[in-house]
Amino acid sequence: MNHKNIITAFGTLFFILIFSNSAFAQYEGIIKYRKNVMKSTGGHMGAIVDILKNGLPLTAHIVDHAHSINKNNKMTLAMFPKGSGLGDTKAKSTIWENWTKFKNAVDASVRESTKLVKVAESGDMNAFAKQVRATGKTCRGCHQSFRERN
Ligand code: HEC
Repeated sequence: MNHKNIITAFGTLFFILIFSNSAFAQYEGIIKYRKNVMKSTGGHMGAIVDILKNGLPLTAHIVDHAHSINKNNKMTLAMFPKGSGLGDTKAKSTIWENWTKFKNAVDASVRESTKLVKVAESGDMNAFAKQVRATGKTCRGCHQSFRERN
């Protein structure tokens, strides 16, 4: 390789690095954000399970946990803008290839967690435990299709 070619090669490499870096950087913030929101959803689910499993005298909290899950679920669709499949994320590209299916999965989680709030408010703990499972199913359903395994 002569001198000129080497410079061109480095120039191209440099350009590719800068370009891919900015493509990552553009979505870095929202990827971090959606992971935080998802983490909090997982936290509220875990807290509910702790109350149920260990018979904690904190059943007064379940309505608020259910509300938080429901609110997070309502935020979900907007957390996955097109192009945000690149970077430090487990989101599969199938999300954007099957957007309608992904949206249906979001809708299912909103629907079941809306019921979760209602049942929590009713105070019927058996019905609540059942609805926790139904809600959990919508989390797993989406993760199985749209989230990379570890
Ligand atoms: C419509 C799809 C969808 C639904 C519904 C959904 N998730 Fe997720 N979840 C995802 C995707 C996609 C990721 C990966 C996000 C990423 O890495 O950018 C994720 C990531 C997570 C994470 C890991 C966050 C991290 O730290 O990386 C947790 C915890 C989580 N979800 C919990 C839940 C719980 C609990 C529910 C149900 C109440 C739920 N999710 C419902 C799609 C969904």
